[in-house]
Amino acid sequence: MGLTILLGAQWGDEGKGRVTDLLAEDADVTARFSGGDNAGHTVTVGTGAAARTFKLHLLPSGVIQSRTVNVLGNGMVINPARLRGELAALAQGGITLSPERLKISHAAHLITPAHVALDKAEEDARGADKLGTTGRGIGPAYTAKISRGGLRAELFKDPETLADKIEAHVARVNRTLTGLYGAAPLDPAAIASEYAEHAQALAPYITETSLYLDGRLKAGAHVIAEGAQGSLLDIDHGTYPYVTSSSPTTGGVLTGLGVGARYIDRVIGVTKVFQTRVGEGPFPTEAFGAEGDRLRGTGANPWDEFGTTTGRPRRCGWLDLVLLRYTIRINGLTELVLTKLDVLSGLDRVRLCTGYRDPAGRLHAELPYGPSDLAPFTADYEDLPGWSEDVGGARQSSDLPAAARAYIERISALTGVPVSLVSVGPERSQIIRL
Ligand code: IMP
Repeated sequence: MGLTILLGAQWGDEGKGRVTDLLAEDADVTARFSGGDNAGHTVTVGTGAAARTFKLHLLPSGVIQSRTVNVLGNGMVINPARLRGELAALAQGGITLSPERLKISHAAHLITPAHVALDKAEEDARGADKLGTTGRGIGPAYTAKISRGGLRAELFKDPETLADKIEAHVARVNRTLTGLYGAAPLDPAAIASEYAEHAQALAPYITETSLYLDGRLKAGAHVIAEGAQGSLLDIDHGTYPYVTSSSPTTGGVLTGLGVGARYIDRVIGVTKVFQTRVGEGPFPTEAFGAEGDRLRGTGANPWDEFGTTTGRPRRCGWLDLVLLRYTIRINGLTELVLTKLDVLSGLDRVRLCTGYRDPAGRLHAELPYGPSDLAPFTADYEDLPGWSEDVGGARQSSDLPAAARAYIERISALTGVPVSLVSVGPERSQIIRL
């Protein structure tokens, strides 16, 4: 079966979790390869009165399927307290993950309270130039990794070295917190003892996950690499500096899991039929006022555009095909999944951004220098007729209003990539396979 890569094709929050959840029905393994608990998605198990909802930040969506093995890859940064919180919530809901079903890479990096404190202090110090991070310690943990001073999950197998390293790490961060940022220091001994407890709980899960995945792929298993965040938040290819500190793109799958390119079978990009962004940074198709509010929703529904991790209202706007063509290119997407088509029902017209105008009025179909500086550009739109019908009950393409079908076909034609699935509502069944 090989490796299916599932990525966010926008700035995150595309609805990847529910797509993996769907694909995981015939998957043997689901694996996260980058990021940490800055990601968040909600999965529902069961229906009606028996339905239970879980918020996952670190665990792949495959945990919900009883037969999948779940991997936290070496490219991740893991806050063990948060991971244990997720495992406890699942256990309460009747899902217990044994080491046979959850494997944590020995080479994944650990996030500590010191990284979280640094993230907050650095963000405060940026003042008006703040990045809008999720405050989960992601940037400082990856900084430590790249500067070769990080703490890897394999330390959970060696409690003595772990205690020494944690104390030295917290003492080192304290010097920065107090000296540079005037922030309160943390207690190294208390954090070391907290991590000794995490080590005891999580050591059984530590695995050489690259070797494990290779074995499964060689034996013909179906592995899903589940992206967190989105391609436009990629540290290299995203809207730098308003990005996360990892590579939530195809390249990141290979390094973040330690698997070979030869196994890649499909590369699926998930995009909403409109655009959203959390945090700071330019957003050429942003819609303001009533139009933006209409796309966002009121917050009354779990699927409205408010962050799962932070609760922040997301900035909303029209689908940006300049950016989508870019994420198709950098990832080699072989198919698109469109989510939230139902949100557009009831609009007189729907807009697709097909190009950017620069300040001299020249039109660009491609970004001249990538997406890091979008501020000078204004969006050029193609407007299509909207549809008034509720599409939530549609289960095949022919159930959709002609205008909705035309909108989907136009996205495919303007990007040159086939659309394989369209979601029309939050329920598992509210999916159209094309
Ligand atoms: P960090 O990943 O917490 O360092 O945040 C860096 C940027 O990435 C901020 O703009 C965040 O809002 C954004 N970000 C990080 N994770 C997600 C996500 O899962 N969805 C959407 N935005 C995210």
